[in-house]
Amino acid sequence: MLMRSSRRSLRYVIIAAIIICIIYLQRPIAPDRPAEGGSGGFEYIEEFLPKGWGKTSKIHAVKSSFDWSKVSRRNPIPSTIPLPKGRPHSLPRIQHIFPKESRIALAQLESQRQSVRRAFQKCWRSYKEHAWMRDELMPLSGGSKDTFGGWAATLIDSLDTLWIMRLEAEFKDAVAAVATIDWNYTNNTSCNIFETTIRHLGGLISAYDLSNSQVLLDKAIELGDMLYAGFDTPNGMPPFWLDFEKAKAGELEADSHGPIASPGSLSLEFTRLSQITKDPKYYAAISRITDLIERHQSTTQIPGMWPTMIDSRNEGFNLREFSIGALADSLYEYFPKMHALMGGLNPVYEKLTISSLDTIKKNALFRPMLADEEDILFAGRIRVNEDGGIDLVPEGQHLSCFAGGMYALSGRLFGRDDHVDLGVRLARGCSYAYAAFPTGIMPEIFNMFPCETLDGCAWDEEMWELDGDHNLPKGFKNARDPSYLLRPEAIESVFLLYRITGLVEFRDAAWNMFQAIQNATETEFGNARIEDVTVSGEPPKKTDSMESFWLSETLKYFYLVFSPPDLISLDDYVLNTEAHPLKRLK
Ligand SMILES: *[C@@H]1O[C@H](CO)[C@@H](O)[C@H](O)[C@H]1NC(C)=O
Ligand SMILES: *[C@@H]1O[C@H](CO)[C@@H](O)[C@H](O)[C@H]1NC(C)=O
Ligand SMILES: *[C@@H]1O[C@H](CO)[C@@H](O)[C@H](O)[C@H]1NC(C)=O
Ligand SMILES: *[C@@H]1O[C@H](CO)[C@@H](O)[C@H](O)[C@H]1NC(C)=O
Repeated sequence: MLMRSSRRSLRYVIIAAIIICIIYLQRPIAPDRPAEGGSGGFEYIEEFLPKGWGKTSKIHAVKSSFDWSKVSRRNPIPSTIPLPKGRPHSLPRIQHIFPKESRIALAQLESQRQSVRRAFQKCWRSYKEHAWMRDELMPLSGGSKDTFGGWAATLIDSLDTLWIMRLEAEFKDAVAAVATIDWNYTNNTSCNIFETTIRHLGGLISAYDLSNSQVLLDKAIELGDMLYAGFDTPNGMPPFWLDFEKAKAGELEADSHGPIASPGSLSLEFTRLSQITKDPKYYAAISRITDLIERHQSTTQIPGMWPTMIDSRNEGFNLREFSIGALADSLYEYFPKMHALMGGLNPVYEKLTISSLDTIKKNALFRPMLADEEDILFAGRIRVNEDGGIDLVPEGQHLSCFAGGMYALSGRLFGRDDHVDLGVRLARGCSYAYAAFPTGIMPEIFNMFPCETLDGCAWDEEMWELDGDHNLPKGFKNARDPSYLLRPEAIESVFLLYRITGLVEFRDAAWNMFQAIQNATETEFGNARIEDVTVSGEPPKKTDSMESFWLSETLKYFYLVFSPPDLISLDDYVLNTEAHPLKRLK
């Protein structure tokens, strides 16, 4: 439109120019959002320069086609809980002070580290070639599948590992791909809140914490807002499944029967998102879960612990099965980690940690009867019987192998040397079980013969003859599930114990575990789950599955254990239950 040159219109032009200037100056500076574009909504270009890395890349990003931050909450929020303010406490040192390594030791470590890196690169190349943007690579057929909504789970879960291994070109490539993800584009009508939080949200926040890439934070916020909608239930407890249409309509309800780990392990990711964005709503959402859990700590059948399955809808915590393995694990894991993340600013996490870990020690840990009377521990399951007594199921689970790291971390954070000692014995337990089997790998689930106390007991050959499975190593009663799913929990504890105590036995154990796993699981395209770790003489049968945690967790822990101890120092970072390092408040 042509402009008339009267003084009156000139005045309008000047006023308009001032208004435009004000709007321009008030727009967010980064990222730059120049124009509407593309089919999927809004696009922008980001100048992207990872700290300390070479050239700038331009990232072409797509905004999700549905904006969850615009969905208004149907259920009233009882009160807003602010992020605790004030200076974070200076917490005790967690890592061992390592002496300088000899040149020979350094050379060996470097070669071990490179072996792990090569294993990762092989899987990554196959993922890129055969499964790009899908959730998982199929490691036997070279196919792909979607198991978590089709939002490139393996890619997002691997971002920080790429960064840590300094695979620069691959990292930039991956960030550019993440920038195109639309959370509204999925074949599923719901997503698993727990898995999406620990894998996707944790992966994005962690990669942002490491790289400062703005586009990763933007994607994390989009996803965080979607997951936040899962808390819009009458009592603020999120259900296991986030049904998208129900969430948009404000019709979600908490479950009456669900695993406690699901609401119980969202705290680290949501708290870190609030810390970074300064928006307290994510922290407020998980605080209500923490409050409920804390209120019930002394009301359960085993005060100090919580049953594995709870009724979130009616706030019922009275079932009789307890465990720190499947269904409950990361609930406990996140208490000391929240203390570390928040710099101790919320004292409730110390109380939750100490009272639960002491109760677990008393009731769930056991020392197995072994011919060599090895001083090791496992965490079993427990059940409250009809008479109110507590029965121990002397079962080892790969999933509960994280316990060693949890005790050791708590031991350092709260000055509990006895917890560090329990951590050492628990981590030794899992590495013992790895070494005991012919493949060098521990079964998913097995049973042993428990001693009466943690101080141990003499070997009873007769009991073993009568009750043990003689195809298994001496001391193992059965291998209820003899598979290995490429899981990380054993190397997780071995890594943490190495960093915390400096004991070289853990680094040596890690190398044996890595070689055994590579030998038994490697395929043409990557690594596959195996059916039976108890077979000898022949390679175990493989299954066409490689979950994203293999690249996110298992290989990251192996890489870190052979790396200089200041790479992802536990005094700077706390790792979520998918091994995503989050920056600690200091
Ligand atoms: C995206 O969200 C809109 C609004 O809810 C919905 O109508 C549409 O079907 C969604 N698109 C996809 C691909 O799910
Ligand atoms: C949905 O499924 C179809 C058919 O399996 C597939 O081609 C498409 O890529 C899937 N879309 C998403 C978003 O996963
Ligand atoms: C999600 O969709 C995929 C197909 O893209 C399907 O195989 C899977 O079972 C669905 N998962 C859920 C939880 O609905
Ligand atoms: C590798 O596995 C085979 C069985 O599949 C076994 O015979 C061999 O000893 C293993 N090698 C190592 C180094 O563990």
